[in-house]
Amino acid sequence: MKVITSISELQHILANYHQEQVAFVPTMGCLHQGHLSLIRKAKRLADIVVVSIYVNPLQFNDKNDLKNYPKPFETDIQLCQEEGVDFVFHPENLYANTPMQVALHVNNLSQSLCGLHRPGHFDGMITVVNILFNIIRPDLAIFGEKDFQQLSIIRHMVADLHMPIDIIAGETVREQDGLALSSRNRHLTAEQRRQAAAIPQALQAVIQTYQTNKAIPSCLAAGQNILDAHGIKPDYFGVYDEQHLQAVNSLTTHDPIPARVFIAATIGSTRLIDNMPLITPPAKDTQP
Ligand code: PAJ
Repeated sequence: MKVITSISELQHILANYHQEQVAFVPTMGCLHQGHLSLIRKAKRLADIVVVSIYVNPLQFNDKNDLKNYPKPFETDIQLCQEEGVDFVFHPENLYANTPMQVALHVNNLSQSLCGLHRPGHFDGMITVVNILFNIIRPDLAIFGEKDFQQLSIIRHMVADLHMPIDIIAGETVREQDGLALSSRNRHLTAEQRRQAAAIPQALQAVIQTYQTNKAIPSCLAAGQNILDAHGIKPDYFGVYDEQHLQAVNSLTTHDPIPARVFIAATIGSTRLIDNMPLITPPAKDTQP
């Protein structure tokens, strides 16, 4: 495994691999089993695996969040080595000019869920992913369903901009009690960590209720009861369609559209997000 910090060196090396399938897993480091599951998927699907570790300042609207973002670089490198990653790309800076004169903007897809609560976040995210795609030019790139809005925006970006990159989804990896792994979980106190387990429980309650009662408000009420019992006031908690990420209040029972239940909640000062499928698409595909 080689750790590369220079953009031109990485481009130079990757130019040798045009016959091979190159898979790319972008990360901000502080790697956990969720990230590693994406790397393992990349290993199964491609010949060469590139992992980037870059804490992108452009996607943080809270400067403290950026400052406090954990950077256990040595451990991250060791984990990548153990997983058989070929190249770790760890640039110091990806922005040639700040502010950029040309940037990307997400339209309607950022007008719901986290987009409403984190202004500018998805524009910053899509800009850095676009820069990384341009440098690495992978055949496929893997993103976690944990950040479903991000995954959805990236699928639309490659479609809208005709980028020849397959976007592959990785399932959310969870703790035993269901809490989705996140680098932010380490900020929770023991008490907050117990409280946080109510987040996946609330999502499960919606899904379970839906088995017998197709009225979305009743399903959400079942989840809300769990949140209330644990003193969690979510930023958002609702059912949204997978394609447009619009809130859904009723679903036709005949041939319903794929939909998920989404939540964001701040516990103490830690903002957590999660989602689970309520109605899954007929066949798994990678297109928007
Ligand atoms: P980061 O938060 O480091 O996440 C990197 C990738 O890991 C994302 O695709 C994310 O969805 C996935 N991931 C996080 N937690 C997961 C879990 N519990 N199970 C499975 N996958 C999980 O997302 C970003 O970085 C950045 O926005 C980035 C795409 C790198 C652009 O800066």
